[in-house]
Amino acid sequence: MKSIWIIANWKSNKNIAEALEWVSVVGPKIPKKAELNVVVCPPFSDLAELKKAVQIGGFPIMIGSQDLSPFEIGAYTGEEPAAILNQFVELAILGHSERRQNFGETDQLVAAKTAQALANGIIPLVCVQGRETPIPEGAKLVAYEPVFAIGTGTPDTPENAQNVAQELKSKNPQLAVLYGGSVNSTNLKSFLAQPDISGVLIGKASLDAIEFGKIIGTAVQE
Ligand code: PGA
Repeated sequence: MKSIWIIANWKSNKNIAEALEWVSVVGPKIPKKAELNVVVCPPFSDLAELKKAVQIGGFPIMIGSQDLSPFEIGAYTGEEPAAILNQFVELAILGHSERRQNFGETDQLVAAKTAQALANGIIPLVCVQGRETPIPEGAKLVAYEPVFAIGTGTPDTPENAQNVAQELKSKNPQLAVLYGGSVNSTNLKSFLAQPDISGVLIGKASLDAIEFGKIIGTAVQE
């Protein structure tokens, strides 16, 4: 089995009770395999409790955030700086298209956030919407997520995702490329089978603990 990332992006969903319920179902289903990196990215308010539950259960789950501040600690009201988030998270999703669309996030801002993540020991997972999206300096993990495929039930074809991944890697040999956009337990294998795709970023299908358990089960059959 090649090394793969299965990353759950809960977006603005699940309170603490719902998050803990999910972990109690999914946690025991994840095999401890060095090649399997499972990450769950909840809303900020769930991070502390989720981290505790994962530690107590001894589950092989990493915790991630869905964003972080482009600034250091200091007078930036409302922001979540990497230097504080790193108490809880090992990874941060950055530059998601929903942030670019709804919050005016620019490539420059994504680069500043990437720098903050790297300076504070957090792995930046940078979302790129196509071949032309700039890859910030120092990023080693990106997710190709075409906007048309997000939350629509219409994923990109595995062949096209492979072509984009290959092109991104040929320009940036340090990269591992994930695919995201309407991934579920049925289509997962077709993406993981592509030689240049190192995993998946999953929104909607990650919310259901049973479906996410199936996704893990399918991924480890690889
Ligand atoms: P989706 O979302 O799986 O619901 O399409 C993916 C994402 O936005 O990361």
